[in-house]
Amino acid sequence: MSETIMIASGKGGVGKSTAAAFLGKALGKKNKRVLLIDGDTGLGALDIIFGVADKVMNTWLDIELSNCSPEQAFIRISEKLFLLPSPKFFPENPENVDENVFNNIIRQCKNNFDYIFVDASAGIESNLKWAVKGCEKGIFVATADEISVRGAAAAGDKAQEYGMKRENMRLLINRFSKKAAVKSRILSIDGVIDKSGVMLLGILPEDKKIPFSSVTNVFPGKKSPFMKAVSRVCGRIEGENVPLKLNELK
Ligand SMILES: Nc1ncnc2c1ncn2[C@@H]1O[C@H](COP(=O)(O)OP(=O)(O)OP(=O)(O)O)[C@@H](O)[C@H]1O
Ligand SMILES: [Mg+2]
Repeated sequence: MSETIMIASGKGGVGKSTAAAFLGKALGKKNKRVLLIDGDTGLGALDIIFGVADKVMNTWLDIELSNCSPEQAFIRISEKLFLLPSPKFFPENPENVDENVFNNIIRQCKNNFDYIFVDASAGIESNLKWAVKGCEKGIFVATADEISVRGAAAAGDKAQEYGMKRENMRLLINRFSKKAAVKSRILSIDGVIDKSGVMLLGILPEDKKIPFSSVTNVFPGKKSPFMKAVSRVCGRIEGENVPLKLNELK
């Protein structure tokens, strides 16, 4: 049976899809079968991040509407990593789509994967509720600034209201820069943890290659602080006791 993990945030653009993509890839390389559900109803991104936008035939909406089976919608990204894309045009008042949409799909394929991630839309409304209904655990992504952290805190509170246990919530601080923190241009790690009200899962540093990687096809190297941080986060997701290694963040 798979672990089901939503990746959420209050504020948009903090790195949910980036985190989902790199964590999925890294766990896949560790021989885990991983399904990434692009749960974003507004602006799906994972097909672009993985360079497979032209391969999208069916989406989770097609599964929900019984137009296809899950297998007919999955796109194989690597040997162990699969993507379930999001619909490009999501109807404003979709008929036959209820709040159990992700739960219904996840139940159908739970036995085939070690990890299922739902990359949720930003915000704290219905999409977050759908993701919570499908997932036991939640990763809340925030950058180290007041607005983003307020968003993560609000998303955590809402997720709890929608039924997720707080002990199953973790915070992922993204785009962290030690230099900026030292100069007090961003919040400290302790500040982010305190204000979010969510236990820390890990910290991913800022990496200049990431914003351009879907165009340049150049990714952070294996030994980069970013990839090492991804690997540590994966270890923790797998239940290992991995040190934070702040000295390895730039
Ligand atoms: N660690 C990082 N270092 C540098 N750039 C990053 C990092 N993480 C994410 N980014 C960049 O930040 C931008 C937003 O990332 P992403 O699309 O993953 O956020 P999101 O939370 O999924 O956004 P949305 O709310 O729109 O779904 C992208 O340009 C991405 O390349
Ligand atoms: Mg996204």
